[in-house]
Amino acid sequence: MTLIPELTILQPNDKEQIDLPHTLEDEWAVGKKRLYIESYGCQMNFADSEIVAAVMRNAGFATTSSAAEADVIFLNTCAIRDNAEQKVRHRLKHLTGLKRLKPELLVGILGCMAERLKTKLLEEEKVVDIVAGPDAYRDIPKLVEEAESGQKAVNVFLSREETYADISPIRLSSNGVTALVSIMRGCDNMCSFCVVPFTRGRERSRDPYSIVREAQDLFDRGYREVTLLGQNVDSYKWNDELEMTNDKSADSRTDSSLSFAGLLERVARIHPDLRVRFSTSHPKDITDDVLHTIARYDNICNYIHLPAQSGSSRVLALMNRTYDRSWYMGKIDRIREILGDDCGISTDMISGFCSETEEEHQDSLSLMDYVRYDYAYMFAYSERPGTLAAKKYPDDIPEDVKKRRLTEIIDRQLAHSAQRNQRHIGQVQRVLVEGTSRRSDDDLSGRSDQNKLVVFPKGNHQKGQYVSVLITECTSATLRGEAV
Ligand code: SAH
Ligand code: SF4
Ligand code: F3S
Repeated sequence: MTLIPELTILQPNDKEQIDLPHTLEDEWAVGKKRLYIESYGCQMNFADSEIVAAVMRNAGFATTSSAAEADVIFLNTCAIRDNAEQKVRHRLKHLTGLKRLKPELLVGILGCMAERLKTKLLEEEKVVDIVAGPDAYRDIPKLVEEAESGQKAVNVFLSREETYADISPIRLSSNGVTALVSIMRGCDNMCSFCVVPFTRGRERSRDPYSIVREAQDLFDRGYREVTLLGQNVDSYKWNDELEMTNDKSADSRTDSSLSFAGLLERVARIHPDLRVRFSTSHPKDITDDVLHTIARYDNICNYIHLPAQSGSSRVLALMNRTYDRSWYMGKIDRIREILGDDCGISTDMISGFCSETEEEHQDSLSLMDYVRYDYAYMFAYSERPGTLAAKKYPDDIPEDVKKRRLTEIIDRQLAHSAQRNQRHIGQVQRVLVEGTSRRSDDDLSGRSDQNKLVVFPKGNHQKGQYVSVLITECTSATLRGEAV
């Protein structure tokens, strides 16, 4: 359930099994209007849908897992690549058919595509009644009311402050074990290929007390893993002098501000049985402090998603990533020095960025050889209107060349994933069980510390437990073993 699937393999956060929502009290839901919400794109969008569900619940809507049963359908959309948008357009065609059968049905577009296209969406897609950008979710009940009265409703204002800190998300499609917790919104980085700064607005951090409270509450309700989410978690920053002077025990903090390392530590201290993950780390910002914090706490996962995008310093400069190949390699070396070879590392790679030569493509492959990533999300460059790259550099790599380079990147990654998984054979891994395996009811599946999917025979074990599993076999995507 993370990035767009088409050109992605080995998604570490793909749930093996997704249970249907049990989160709503069934009695409350009786006779209520129904909301169906479908999420596309990154984990942040999935977390946002849970905020939207909470806002709509306050307005008297229960959620349903069936689109046909819904009074309101929201698509929480992604604009990161053209194919992400095409997928939503395609889905809207299907919803047009549904609306013909049920004319009172309301259809809303939320998220990044809403923000990018604004009222243009209403002109282009007649089936759409509501358009709401990522900072407008508190306003959604009003927009629904407007739409119910027959008007089209739009709110795409971006905010510098909104973090929805006070809203308790309704956990949709929850396995009851792992949950997403948003710690910041927006992005100030302006990578030249990327639409996110335009669709999500300026970067802002959420207050740490509400983050810790949310994580504590999840733990109290039986959840055993939280993933702290932001486009660039290493630039998390919270200024609050009062709180800082009251608690001098954590060391990853200056007098008046809390860094990401400090936040990570606070969440890790909730309970040793609460696993903490985080995403995404930016190579320019990740600090030794964060790495040492991971090393200090057993419950902070030994896994870092550190997107490189390219292995060529010239391409990285065009991408405006603000680091070069040797800086990136230096960060990998630091990870290995502080956390050892055991730390899982994953990346994002883009093939065929503007003017990328064959040699520069080889640089990406050789960087992959240097790091030997555990996982990767890999994409062909897709020009996004309005971005720096779209304005400055021609999208001049032919589609077939982008695809061929992408295939080479994927093939290389598959080989590395298999190698990286093989070294676990014979090891005992601590697995947090997330549910029954999708392939067999006799097996459980969960994740290791390094975020690897592990499948093993059920025995007497249950969802939500930590189980020590001796790894006996693997593929490039999964480890298999037996509880010991
Ligand atoms: N904040 C994260 C990435 C968020 S977008 C970071 O900085 O790493 C997720 C991934 O989508 C990016 O890492 C990039 O690899 C990919 N991506 C973004 N824009 C793209 C584009 N125009 N074409 C192809 N891939 C893109
Ligand atoms: Fe996009 Fe770059 Fe921000 Fe990531 S850091 S969201 S790639 S602009
Ligand atoms: Fe997509 Fe928006 Fe996330 S563009 S990747 S849903 S921030």
